[in-house]
Amino acid sequence: MKLRVNKASPFARKARILSREAGLTGRVEEIETAVSPVAPNDDLARENPLLKIPSLVTDNGETLFDSPVICEYLDTLHGGRRFFPAAGPARFAALRRQAVTDGILDAAVLCRYESAVRPEPLRWPEWIQGQKRKIFGALDALEKEAATWGEDFDVGHIGVACALGYLDFRFADWGWRTVHPRLAAWFEAASRRPSVRDTAPS
Ligand code: BEZ
Repeated sequence: MKLRVNKASPFARKARILSREAGLTGRVEEIETAVSPVAPNDDLARENPLLKIPSLVTDNGETLFDSPVICEYLDTLHGGRRFFPAAGPARFAALRRQAVTDGILDAAVLCRYESAVRPEPLRWPEWIQGQKRKIFGALDALEKEAATWGEDFDVGHIGVACALGYLDFRFADWGWRTVHPRLAAWFEAASRRPSVRDTAPS
C-alpha cells in the first residue's frame, strides 16, 4: 500500500500512528508529498481530487481518503486490539473524539494558512480569533473527559495526540497547557508511545 503523507500534516499523522500501533509499517509505504492550498500537486490530484493528504492506494489499486476512512481501513488489516471499537457506547465515544479533534485540526490548519500563506495585507485577525475560539472550546470539552481515559488508545485518542502535537508545532505561543492541565498530563504520557514519538511533526 502507498500512503501519501507530509511530515507536518496532523491528518496524515493519524494514519501514520495507527499503522505503527497496528504493526502495519511493513505493508504501508509512506510517500512524502508536498501540499499547498495555492500550488496543486498533480501526482496527488490523480489519486485524490480533493488534493488532501493522507491519501492511500491499497494493494488492490483502490484509493481511499480522508483520514477517518484510511484509519478505519487500516484497522481492518490486523489481528490485534481494534482502534475503532466494534459497537456500543465505546464506538461512539471514539468517533466523537475523532470528530472533535478533526474539527480542531480543520480550524488550526486554516489558521496556519491564514497566518503563513495568505498575503499579509489580506489577513483577518478576527477570523483567526473565531477559529481559535472553536479550538479552545473543543479543548475545554476534551479536558472534561481526559481524566477518564486511563490507558485507552482508540482512534479518538490518536486524534487528540495529533491535535495537541499540531498546536505545539504551529501555535506554541497559544499556551493550551495553562488551561488544560489534564490534557497536558495525558499528552505527556501519550508522547512516550513509540508511534507518537516517531511521528512528531517536522
Ligand atoms: C503545515 O505545514 O502546517 C501543514 C502541512 C500539511 C497539511 C496541513 C498542515
